[in-house]
Amino acid sequence: MGNEFVSCSFLLLLFVTLAPGNVAASHTEDDGVGVLRLPDQKQDVHSSSHMGMGMSFGMEEDDLRNPGANVFATIKHIEVGNKMPIYFPYIDDPTTFQFLPEHKTQHIPLSSDQLPELLQFFSFSPESHQALAMEQTLKICEMEAPKGEVQGCFTSVESLVDFAQGIFGPGSQVGVVRSSLISKLTPLLQNYTVVESKEVSAGKLIACHNEPYPYAVYYCHFQLGSVNKVFMVSVTGDNGDKVDAAFLCHMDTSTWSAGHIGFRLLGLKPGESEVCHFFPAYDMVVVP
Ligand SMILES: *[C@@H]1O[C@H](CO)[C@@H](O)[C@H](O)[C@H]1NC(C)=O
Repeated sequence: MGNEFVSCSFLLLLFVTLAPGNVAASHTEDDGVGVLRLPDQKQDVHSSSHMGMGMSFGMEEDDLRNPGANVFATIKHIEVGNKMPIYFPYIDDPTTFQFLPEHKTQHIPLSSDQLPELLQFFSFSPESHQALAMEQTLKICEMEAPKGEVQGCFTSVESLVDFAQGIFGPGSQVGVVRSSLISKLTPLLQNYTVVESKEVSAGKLIACHNEPYPYAVYYCHFQLGSVNKVFMVSVTGDNGDKVDAAFLCHMDTSTWSAGHIGFRLLGLKPGESEVCHFFPAYDMVVVP
């Protein structure tokens, strides 16, 4: 193990210079979306995207009032000219959600069992926010897949492409759809007007969520037999900022729990309508 860690010294340097500052920065901003988004904030913003697949993650009543919940909509909402409030998190440093080259991370174990060694490697004390965030990410990565889903955590383009080709078919093309960044001056929640919508892909789609970790880790999941559609929706905010947003629609919601936050926000019942959500720029939809 020692040797593997030594061979990753570049990564270590990279992270030590980048991450702690970002963590501090994200802590002082109310969006809470830096490199290592802190767990309490992560729950706010992040779980709404996880919930897209019908997971419940302990959403409480007051989550409806959480600004981060303003990401759910239906296809009718993305007609050109429609206006609606949308929450897009601000991302301080976009490089933190880009995959590192495979050789830099493939020897670092992504395992809760190794957490003490990992904390030492990244120079985080066990009581730090960073340690807690890493622990939570590892837990998510080690979670058993819900029935009818396949999932995994990925730390490189290569491993993600392998996973996607396992679903789309060997040798198939693998593309990524993600939202553009908002500027620092853009309010996180504001009204946006739809200026253009187009369907990018339909059928087998993989949702990938960036998890807080010292380097880019994506938790990706795919619902077997699910029918999804992804759109690119161009919207202009009240402040004039334009966002090209990835918008993922789950066409069959009949098996979802009636308490799903998407239903509650939209006033819908399971199976009554598709439920869609805007993606934050740090997440992505993987498409054939
Ligand atoms: C969006 O517009 C509606 C209607 O004009 C308004 O009531 C609401 O407060 C606005 N929301 C935001 C976040 O600006």
